[in-house]
Formats: sequence, C-alpha cells, structure tokens
Amino acid sequence: MTRPLCYLGRTYASLSYPTAMDSTFHWFWALVGALITAFVVQSIAVLLHRVGFPVVARGAYRAVLLEDEPASLVHSFGRFVLLFWLNSLLNHWTFGIAGYLLLAWFLYQVYHSVTNPPESTIQPARGAQGLSFTLRTTNGPNVRLGNPFRGTFIAGGAGSGKSKSIIEPIIQQAGTAGLTGVVYDFKFPTLAEEVAGSYAGGSVTPYFVNFTDLTRSHRVNPLAPQLLATASFAREAAATIITNLDAKAAQQRNFWIQSGEVLLAGCIWYLRRNHPAQCSLPAAVSMILESAAPQLLATLQQDEEVRGLIASIASASKSENTIAGVFSTIQNYLAVLNTPEIFWVMSGDQVPLDLNTRETPGVLVVGNDPALSSTFSPLISLIVATAIKRLNQQGRLPSLVLLDEAPTLFIPNFAQLPATARSNQVATVYAVQDVAQMEALTSRQESEMILANLGNQFWGRTTNTATAERVSKMFGKVDREYRSTTAGKSKSSQVNIFKPSTRTKSTSESVSIQQRDKLEAQQVMRFGVGEFAGLVVESGRPEFRSTFRAEPTKAVKIAPFQEASAEQVRQNFAAIKAQVRAIVGRETSPAQEVPDSAIAQKEPIEQPAQDSQDFAIVKKAPTDQAPNTSHQEADDDVNQW
Ligand SMILES: Nc1ncnc2c1ncn2[C@@H]1O[C@H](COP(=O)(O)OP(=O)(O)OP(=O)(O)O)[C@@H](O)[C@H]1O
Ligand SMILES: [Mg+2]
Repeated sequence: MTRPLCYLGRTYASLSYPTAMDSTFHWFWALVGALITAFVVQSIAVLLHRVGFPVVARGAYRAVLLEDEPASLVHSFGRFVLLFWLNSLLNHWTFGIAGYLLLAWFLYQVYHSVTNPPESTIQPARGAQGLSFTLRTTNGPNVRLGNPFRGTFIAGGAGSGKSKSIIEPIIQQAGTAGLTGVVYDFKFPTLAEEVAGSYAGGSVTPYFVNFTDLTRSHRVNPLAPQLLATASFAREAAATIITNLDAKAAQQRNFWIQSGEVLLAGCIWYLRRNHPAQCSLPAAVSMILESAAPQLLATLQQDEEVRGLIASIASASKSENTIAGVFSTIQNYLAVLNTPEIFWVMSGDQVPLDLNTRETPGVLVVGNDPALSSTFSPLISLIVATAIKRLNQQGRLPSLVLLDEAPTLFIPNFAQLPATARSNQVATVYAVQDVAQMEALTSRQESEMILANLGNQFWGRTTNTATAERVSKMFGKVDREYRSTTAGKSKSSQVNIFKPSTRTKSTSESVSIQQRDKLEAQQVMRFGVGEFAGLVVESGRPEFRSTFRAEPTKAVKIAPFQEASAEQVRQNFAAIKAQVRAIVGRETSPAQEVPDSAIAQKEPIEQPAQDSQDFAIVKKAPTDQAPNTSHQEADDDVNQW
C-alpha cells in the first residue's frame, strides 16, 4: 500500500509543483494536477472497497473528512480535488513540503482506519461468535448490529422502508453466514425470493410454505407426533389456532373459547396417542367438524389422558345446550380451515422443523397472502411457533427468527423468546408498522415486554403521534445554547440648548442554555423513506439516526418444485375425512356430515327461541358476537356445575 502511495505522491508533487511553468498559469496547472490525482485516488479507493479492502479505502475517505464511501462518488471526488488543489498551491510556497505532509496525512488515516476496526465496513457474519449484521447508510457511518442475538425490533409505517432497507440486507447477510431459521413473509413471495437468492449455493436448505401457490409450497406438519412431547404441546397448539382465529375473544378467555380450545387440544392429543400416523391439524379439525358431539366425546373419553384433558366439557355433557354451544362455537371457528389446499399443505412431512441441527440445517419461509391473512395466520402461527420452540434449544446451530409484519401472527409466549434466545443463539428480528398494532393483538403489557427484550431498535417514519413521542423520549434531551443580541440607539435630550445633543449606540448579547429534545417527535413523523433512528447494542455507537441504503436485491424467482394437481389435493382431502370418520366410528351416518363449507349443523335445541338460536346458528366470523350473545345463558349453565 505504501509503495503506490509514494509513487502517487511523487507524481502528484511533480504535477503540482511545475517549477518550469510560468507562474501566472500555476493555478491552472495545479488544478489539472489535482483533477488527475483526485481521479486516481478515487478510483483506487473504489477498487479497494470492491475487492475486499474497505478499511484501506476508508482511510482515504477519512483524509477528506468523510467517514466512509459516500453514496455519491462526486461528493468525495470534489473533496479530493479541492484538497489536492489547495495543497499544490501551498506546495508552491513551501517548496514541496506540503506535498509530503499531505502524503503523511493520507498514510496516517489509512493506518488509523486499519488499526481501529471500523463500524462502517461490511463484515459478513461468520459463525456464531462473530455474527454481526452491518447496514449501510447513505449519510455518515454505517450501523452495525454487533450482537444480533440480543434481538432486533423494527417499527415504521407502511412504505417507510423496513423491508427494503433493513430486513432484506439482514436476509442477505444471514444467507452469506449460513444462518438457519424461520422467516415469515407477509407478502409472499417477496422475502421468499430474497431468501432463495441469498441462500443459493450454501449448505442451508431453503424450504417454502404457502397456501395459495401449492406448486411452490412444501408440505409441513407442525403436529407431527415427534413434535408433540406432552399434552401441553397439544394445548398450546390449540390455543395458537384459536387465538389467531379470534384474538379479541381469546383475550377475554370466555367459557366458549376455553372449551373450544380444550376440545381441539383433546382431539390433537387423542390422535397423537392413538393414531400417530394420522396426527395432523387437518385430522383434528375434521374430527370436530365431522362428528356429532356425543360420539366425539365418547371416542375421546376412551383414552385416559384425553379424558382428563377434556374433563370440563365432559362434565357439561349433561347439559345438551352447553355442549351444543361449545361445539357450534368451535366448529364455526374451525370451518375456515376446512379447505383442500390447507389440508394438503398441513398434512405432509417435507420440512424438518428441527431446522438448526447440524444434520439437516434449513431455513423455512412461511408465506402469507395479505388478502387472506386472517385465514392463514392460525396455520402460519402454528408452524412458526413450533419451529421457534425447536430452534430455541441449547447446543444447536445459530439461527434467525425473522417476522416481517409480526403482529399479523399471534405466537404464544413470544415475549420470552428474545430473553432466552441470546444464550441459544437465536437472532430475533421483529418488524411492525406500529406499536399500536402489537397492542391490539396481544396486550399493552405483552407488547412492552417484547419491546423491552429486543436490544436493537429501529424506528422509522410514523403517523402515530404517541409513537413519535416515544421515539423522541428515547433519545432524551440535550442542552442547547441560545444567543440573542439586542442593539439600541439613544439620543441625548434637546432641552439644554448649550449642550450639543449626542447619539449613543449599545449592543448586548445574552446567552441562555435550554434543554431541547435531541430528536423531536415532529422530525420522526417527517422521516424520509429508509430513514430510521434508534439504538444498537454492543456496537461502538449506541444511537443513530441514519438513512439506510436500499441494497441491490438478490431475489431469484422460485420455480415450481411440488407436484400438486387439483385431483391429488382433492383426494388427500377426501382421504383425511375418511380416516377421521373411521376413527370416530361414524362412517355409516352420512346424515350428520358437515359440508365442506363447514357450517355446523346442530340438532334442534329445546330452548326459548332467542338465546338458543345463538348456539345453533353458526355465523361466519362470529368474533365477539356468537360467544358473547350466548354468554348469558352459558354462564347460567356453568354456574350450575
Ligand atoms: N433506503 C431506501 N432508499 C430508497 N428507497 C427505498 C428505501 N427503502 C425502501 N425504499 C422504497 O420504498 C418503498 C417501500 O419500501 P418497503 O417495502 O421496504 O417499505 P415497508 O416499510 O416494508 O412497507 P410495508 O410496511 O408496506 O411493507 C419501496 O418501493 C422501496 O423501493
Ligand atoms: Mg414491508
């Protein structure tokens, strides 16, 4: 490095110190010399940056008071020209000494840059210990996530640049580092294609799951028997499904929801213990949709463990209305999952959900469809929750859990993940449009817990004043000095005619120190696209306000890889239904069959019209209504037990 610079220095000195030239034209030749030298230095710096010596290039930029390669090279070129031109003029008067001083200055900056590990150089993550993500900015130093296992939170309104400026660069670097894990792609296949490109040619196998394009979806069974170690897993799976189907009702934890959950958990656990080959969500859902209440209860009660699990419902079996209410509520919720496509995807076993083992390292992308997100969210949440549980174990490969538009999923106990993830080397990335979105799904307390456990935080443009104020508060206040100058003129009185009038001028300056927000809420609301402020842990610079670069995409199209004809999908659906009928033992009672549109058909209930109808009539998307309207009577029943 020193040799070329010396040579450059000599060339530059001879160009910029033209003793033989006419001194009148010295400035002109000095400018020509400066332009040529600046061009050479700039080209070398760009080259070094590209071929893997960014720290050396950074030294050159530091010599012209830039932190790193700027977004526009014209910027640094202009500075180089100015520096070399001024220096060559100085050279003229100092007989060449200034040229050597400048060379020394360059060498010092390169030395400083090499010996002080910069924040601003892209260091692809390598292995668990050195894992870091670097996000390039267009202004000032880049932002480095020194320890991604401390968790990363990204908030920003729609179009603020979360995906393009932060999530995609993280995926690209995770691919280079060979991180295993799970990615939730709300707008499938945007991130899926980025994963496909970033992980191409690596040792980590990408898997893709979605429910709209079956030829580009692997099949996955998050309720495979080996994944359900205890009944608690079945209960949690049921809670995940029900909560995602109706978050509000689930928060209220009313009797109907709880009983529905218990029934689903009972079916899952029954299948796991007695028919492990058939244990899947479609089979459990079908058990509830296809069976009459007494038959299903009788079947489930054959198993001792399941009998205990569903004890609360079984004891209500004396009250026909209550049982009918529980059944219709849960059938109504589960009806939306009763489609051949969902059954197809959720009943195969092509994805090893132990994604971070050394034997089968994989990265799973689960895609949603914004138009049908509420239908698919329960399934996706179940898959993601199961994958997270399996990832978060000791002694496994480091992994990534990346959830874009995370509040569209409800994952039980998610707040605890970042707390344990650090030691288990799970890097959590949680992106939301606004904190309010998180609170709507869970609770204020839970969303604060999630936030508190994510060490790196990025806050982008928002229209929510509360969020903007929160960001402003996070940055705190600074003392600002305010100076004000007052000037005055005065003229002496004209009353005394023997004394000539005089004019005086006075100026006074006052200095006051006031506390002001370091980052004002209004500024946060006016952030540009890709502009974020926030905090990073375990990096040299704990807080930042930067505009990030939209990195060139690595996305590649995912070619169809799965054979899934309409006929195959339909046959799979029919086969699951037949198996379930065989299990519950009612192949011979077609009258009870639930159509695929799966509106639950209840036997008439002997009750005064108003309330009982609410049990029997199953409305689409009942949310608050069905359980609430029937709540009054239900309570009566419950109290009688
Ligand atoms: N750093 C950036 N510089 C310039 N343009 C950007 C930058 N980041 C994003 N954009 C552009 O802004 C648009 C929105 O970006 P992006 O999809 O990343 O937003 P988002 O916050 O993820 O939005 P949403 O919440 O709707 O998913 C894209 O068209 C993208 O090209
Ligand atoms: Mg996005």
